[in-house]
Amino acid sequence: MPLTTRETDSQHLRVSNQAAESTFAEIDNKDRATPAIEFRDVYLSFDERTILKGLSFRVMRGETKIILGGSGGGKSTIIKLVLGLLKPDSGRIFVDGEDITDYNEVQMMGVRKNIGMVFQEGALFDSLSVYHNVAYRLHEQGVPEEEVEPEVRRMLRFVNLEDAIDKMPAELSGGMRRRVGIARALIGDPKIVLFDEPTAGLDPPTARTICELAMKLRDLEDVSSIFVTHEMNNLEYICSEYAVVNEAGEVIFEREGERLCLINSKVMMMRDGNIIFSGTDESLRRAEDPYIQKFLRGH
Ligand SMILES: Nc1ncnc2c1ncn2[C@@H]1O[C@H](COP(=O)(O)OP(=O)(O)OP(=O)(O)O)[C@@H](O)[C@H]1O
Ligand SMILES: [Mg+2]
Repeated sequence: MPLTTRETDSQHLRVSNQAAESTFAEIDNKDRATPAIEFRDVYLSFDERTILKGLSFRVMRGETKIILGGSGGGKSTIIKLVLGLLKPDSGRIFVDGEDITDYNEVQMMGVRKNIGMVFQEGALFDSLSVYHNVAYRLHEQGVPEEEVEPEVRRMLRFVNLEDAIDKMPAELSGGMRRRVGIARALIGDPKIVLFDEPTAGLDPPTARTICELAMKLRDLEDVSSIFVTHEMNNLEYICSEYAVVNEAGEVIFEREGERLCLINSKVMMMRDGNIIFSGTDESLRRAEDPYIQKFLRGH
């Protein structure tokens, strides 16, 4: 992989020429080679049941890791561990190269500032307008109002909902609520976004718009994410298309050609607390494991 080669080169450069001033390019390479999220041999049990049995994986910078798996398989638990809402029984968890495993609540609040979270139900505050829902994090941080408003508008434009800025959540459709939830998660430009079944219960075209937002973040904003889903069409979109800006300045989605390898998404499938598959969507589709085949077919 070119990234690894470059990292090795730059490490070599640092070792062999320590007196030389480091360049920005070198710093950037090192930064890119640090996983956005890493689990090392993570175990977690509730009561007598072991939910995660020595989980190890990495989400690289700018990568979308799709997590598939049956209900109760531990997918939401993984997300809670990244946010520090749960702690593992053993193993280590790193965010941006920082070992957060033993961080206390105050330290975790600092980590969470750089993480956007998209919940299954959108999880909006019903008593607050769209504007105040999206602005919530900035208001909490005491950001002055004249800086908040342009940010809220920018995020609502990103999810194509600027017109809904003064509406209350009850006035919105399920898909619109989900998009407001995404705008709220993205305010402050987090470099990591966690999606927990963001398309569950949505009709296919609306689900598609949510996947497009995830692709825009991956391809145009260099965001790293975990995308938990049960839905195979999400997998299909995210792993076979990428977002680009055309000459007219519009975001369009192109299908990856046969031999190109531009799409920075990997798939991980969980079963009974173990990772039973990790790799590209093509290799997932070729996997012979009967459980994987059944999961992909849906019967
Ligand atoms: N705080 C908790 N206390 C006890 N058991 C829990 C707790 N949180 C999760 N569990 C259990 O851990 C297992 C994994 O839960 P988790 O929510 O991670 O599954 P999931 O893969 O997200 O499932 P789904 O697809 O249904 O959302 C489940 O059996 C659940 O009952
Ligand atoms: Mg879940």
